This record gives sequence, C-alpha cells and structure tokens, in this order.
Amino acid sequence: MELGTAVRERRSIRKFKPADVPPDLVREILNAARWSPSWGNTQPWEFYILTGPILAKIKEMNMEKPAAGVPPAPDVPMPESWPENMKARYNELGKTVFSALGIAREDKASRFQHYQNMVTFFGAPCLILACISRNNVVEYPMLDVGLISQTICLLAHDKGLGTCILAAAASYPDAIRTIASIPEDKRIIVGIALGYPDLDFPLNHIDRKRAEISEFVHWVE
Ligand SMILES: Cc1cc2nc3c(=O)[nH]c(=O)nc-3n(C[C@H](O)[C@H](O)[C@H](O)COP(=O)(O)O)c2cc1C
Repeated sequence: MELGTAVRERRSIRKFKPADVPPDLVREILNAARWSPSWGNTQPWEFYILTGPILAKIKEMNMEKPAAGVPPAPDVPMPESWPENMKARYNELGKTVFSALGIAREDKASRFQHYQNMVTFFGAPCLILACISRNNVVEYPMLDVGLISQTICLLAHDKGLGTCILAAAASYPDAIRTIASIPEDKRIIVGIALGYPDLDFPLNHIDRKRAEISEFVHWVE
C-alpha cells in the first residue's frame, strides 16, 4: 500500500471480528515496526502480546472494576483538563461517536455499555500492551512509544488489520500485571487493540475531523 494512502486511511477501529490474528502476522508487523526511531536509539519500548484466556481475564477484570466503582489508576495519569480548542475537539469526538451509535446524551446505560466495549478492546482478539521500564524517565520514552505505535498501526492497516490505540486499556495496570505475569517494574503505557475490522459497524465509518495546517503550523522566516 502506498504510504500516503495508509496514513490517510488508517482509522481507529471500534468493533472487531472474533477471528484470531495469526501470531506470525503479529510478529511480521513488530519485526518491521522495530525500525522506528527513538531517542539515541534507546528503543525503550517493550510489548506484551495478549491473546486467548489471559486476554479474556483482563477483559473481565476491566468490566468488573468500573462496575464495582473502583477508580482507574493508570501508570501514566490521564489528563483532567485540556486547553479550550482541544477540549472542543474531544467533546466533538464524543458527540460523533454517540450519535453514530444512536445513543442519546441522557442514556447512561448505553453510554456505560460503550465504555464496557472500550475496556474489552471492542472485541479485539489481540491486545498489544506497550510498556517502558520504571528505571527509565517517562517523557521521551513516551514519545518513542508513540512513534512505534503509529508505525504498528500503519503496518497493521497495510495487512488488512484494524487497530485502536487505547489509553482505556491501561486503566488498571496492577491487575493487568498480576493476570498477565508482567513484572512490577514495567510501566504500562497504552494498549493497541488489534484484529480484523468489522466494516459493517457504523462507528468504524465515522467522519473524522482534523484541523487545517494553517491552525497548527507556524512558518517562521
Ligand atoms: C494515546 C491515545 C490514546 C487513545 N485512547 C483511546 C481510548 O481510550 N478509547 C478510544 O476509543 N480511542 C482512543 N484513542 C483513539 C483516538 O480517539 C483517535 O486516534 C482519534 O479520535 C483520531 O481518530 P482516528 O484514529 O480514527 O484517526 C486513543 C488514541 C491515542 C493516540
């Protein structure tokens, strides 16, 4: 696939078919993605590929915790506020998502169901969990994880797979570490849901917005 096409076409997939992703295909994607750049070529990323019964247990835990009122405690704190222009974009995404799902503003049960779908990775049969060591600083390794994550998403798209980068996947890192036997010194950054996209699902076709470059590019002469 032509690179520009992959960049333009990749989109977050929020419903997957149950079919498993062949492990060799995941390996091929990660093998290509390891050529992503990183600070001083430190390659701070580590990935845990979660599938099968362990993934099922994490999905269960992710549903139980919010239902029991346990507040999320991610290793990387979630932002609590945004500058106005970003808040507006975030709110607009929420409106677009709920309107595509036909969920009204006051329909709390359906909204909660969408959240449950999110924390069960929209039915993805595979979750790529991106981690960095606690012995490392957070800032630049986060950037490096971001770079390789986008590379993974683009390569996956090229292979006919869908992805959704999910901060929500890392809401309860302590429980994930226990279930998946991930060492305590791994800081869980984000999950990438991976699977074959269900292209009949309206949420996988929402109209995505981006600011024009005039809004965020500053030419300095
Ligand atoms: C760091 C990061 C965290 C994200 N977390 C979530 C999430 O928890 N739930 C979700 O539905 N989408 C999540 N997304 C997907 C974004 O909402 C999505 O990338 C954005 O709306 C742009 O849409 P697109 O990916 O379809 O182009 C996340 C994306 C990034 C980069």
